[in-house]
Amino acid sequence: MPAPEALLAWLATPALLTVALVLSGPWRLSDSPLPRSLVRELERRQQDLSRLEAAADAGARAGAFPRRRAPLAAADLLGCSALKEVTSVSFVGSGITKRVLRATLPSSGEEIALKSVHWAGNDVSRCVQRYGHPGGCYRLAAYKLLQEAVLMQSLDHPGIVKLRGRCYDRSSAPEMKVVTMLELGTPLEMINLLQTPWEERFKICLDLVELLYYLANSPLGSIVLLDFQTRQFVMVNGSLKVTDLDDVSTKEPSCQLDHDCTLEFPTKRFSLRCGMHKRCEGINEKKNLFNAYRYFFTYLLPHTAPLVLQPLLKDILNATGNLRFGANETLRAFQKVLHLYKSGLYLQKKTTYLKDYVALKGFQSRDAEDYKCWPSYHHLGCMLSVHNPEEAASICSSHPQCQHFIITPRRTWTGRPLALFQSNFSDLIPEGNMVVYIKRSAFSGSL
Ligand SMILES: Nc1ncnc2c1ncn2[C@@H]1O[C@H](COP(=O)(O)OP(=O)(O)O)[C@@H](O)[C@H]1O
Ligand SMILES: [Mg+2]
Repeated sequence: MPAPEALLAWLATPALLTVALVLSGPWRLSDSPLPRSLVRELERRQQDLSRLEAAADAGARAGAFPRRRAPLAAADLLGCSALKEVTSVSFVGSGITKRVLRATLPSSGEEIALKSVHWAGNDVSRCVQRYGHPGGCYRLAAYKLLQEAVLMQSLDHPGIVKLRGRCYDRSSAPEMKVVTMLELGTPLEMINLLQTPWEERFKICLDLVELLYYLANSPLGSIVLLDFQTRQFVMVNGSLKVTDLDDVSTKEPSCQLDHDCTLEFPTKRFSLRCGMHKRCEGINEKKNLFNAYRYFFTYLLPHTAPLVLQPLLKDILNATGNLRFGANETLRAFQKVLHLYKSGLYLQKKTTYLKDYVALKGFQSRDAEDYKCWPSYHHLGCMLSVHNPEEAASICSSHPQCQHFIITPRRTWTGRPLALFQSNFSDLIPEGNMVVYIKRSAFSGSL
């Protein structure tokens, strides 16, 4: 038996602290036998998981996952040993079932997310209230984490957070300790998103539509996200990804009559058709789409969109809000908007403003504070994405403070350049090779 001080020093090693932090919980709270009804629930979860694993394996064997050689092989995943090595562990967030920490892999410096069961979350607490068995309730929640890991491992889409590894101890009866290692993202902040440029908000909606199109046609069938909320998504390198996949269904409900295929939301109710195979065909896809409409599109899509695109966006909102569109039509409508936007076809070519500007080559701009505009890509001044110098000229002419602008080499995700609009001539440095466009009227004054 080591001396108490030695034991303390041993426990204080970063690796052990990490494992303890991730798996912390009242492990030995109850050695009592599991209540029968909890055993039945556990058996149901185990069966659901086995069915999902079998479907994923069958899909892989049949080559149903075309974009990847095969679902991520177990050998490519990090294991329990990685968990012992991670450093800089800190809390990221929690939901009703899971708790998420961030950690760094020392070998590559890469940051990952670690998901484990949230002892204090509603899911486990409610179960403990009901069955009085913390260990069994932990196991019940752990099945959700396992289901999520199977889905993340077998589905292959940029809109789904990637599984990087997992550490299971299925034998630790009754709890079953599970930790999954995932691509790290940042939780969605709707308030911040509302203040970002339309182009960035459009990208989030487009990422979501591409994901929903994939889910509607996934190798495992049409997948519905049952707990669809913005907090189930994170941003990874500027792209939207779903991270919470423990509450999904790959089956569409069976039916006898159309009446059995009712889709209810707090503000709307839809009656869908009972299909030939006595299933509510398309109900999963439609449920996802309506949720995308109510949680994302209504907030992010219409505001400050280019004028000419607004009728198209309104049509998308109407068509998803009353379920006239499926995932396919929605995706096509988004692609049309993207095309019009990227090609500059949305610009109304009535007046030409560029003739009111003189172009001088061989300048660059100091990173200095200047007048602000909304929603700027730069916190010190007014930086907006434009199609070409003509559009930049029309913007500069509409800002009373603007005296000149530069088309910078920076590009947005659509490939459009960012233009910097300024009022101070002292911000211009006569070196480099950028072109500055100066208002002709400014020549008489400040130059
Ligand atoms: N990969 C990740 N990167 C960063 N944060 C994440 C990640 N996954 C989840 N989170 C955060 O942790 C929270 C809880 O995770 P989630 O899987 O949604 O758990 P629950 O099933 O309990 O809702 C999320 O709302 C999100 O804020
Ligand atoms: Mg969640």
